[in-house]
Amino acid sequence: MINLRPVTISDVKDILRIHYAAVHGLATSTFYSQNVLESWSPSPTNERRLKQFHQAIQDNTEIIMVAESTETGIIMGFGSVVPSQQELRAVYVDPTFARRGVGTKIITSLEELAVHHGAHKLHLDASLNAESFYCRHGYSIVERAIHRLNSGIDMECIKMSKELHLH
Ligand SMILES: CC(C)(COP(=O)(O)OP(=O)(O)OC[C@H]1O[C@@H](n2cnc3c(N)ncnc32)[C@H](O)[C@@H]1OP(=O)(O)O)[C@@H](O)C(=O)NCCC(=O)NCCS
Repeated sequence: MINLRPVTISDVKDILRIHYAAVHGLATSTFYSQNVLESWSPSPTNERRLKQFHQAIQDNTEIIMVAESTETGIIMGFGSVVPSQQELRAVYVDPTFARRGVGTKIITSLEELAVHHGAHKLHLDASLNAESFYCRHGYSIVERAIHRLNSGIDMECIKMSKELHLH
């Protein structure tokens, strides 16, 4: 079973490991050059990355949730949403647990949280490899675009959005 809970500072290393494994294992060079993959997800031991994630957790503007196994406590994936900007910012799943519904659990929880915090809609810059996943979850393509990474390197993306309905 999968349990969703808010991130804590002690999860940072796991999150960075999963981010790296997901980008390099699931996004892969079929979609992006090695240069883009390295820039999107540098080494998980990179000091700047550690600081960046610590900061994101402490800032509290972004809601970050982790998905963990109820049996083992192992973190299988994470995601984040910024309700004030109606932005779905991240969904990353450890390749070991890919295609087992972990991403679905994460996105469902983030949408519920977004609605709870007053968002009526979510938009995101989807990576090319994740298009099917977001389509499957009711997101529509707005346009193909370029996403500028923190490093200044550009990566192709697909702008997508979804109207959220209250249940
Ligand atoms: C996209 C991602 C989060 C999906 O996580 P996941 O746990 O494997 O997704 P789920 O098991 O919940 O998949 C649900 C459905 O989405 C679709 N889907 C998910 N991954 C897919 C893929 N690689 N190719 C095609 N369809 C896919 C399928 O319809 C799937 O249902 P199915 O397995 O019954 O066919 C994961 O592949 C990932 O971390 N990718 C790398 C990081 C990334 O690009 N994140 C998005 C940044 S915008």
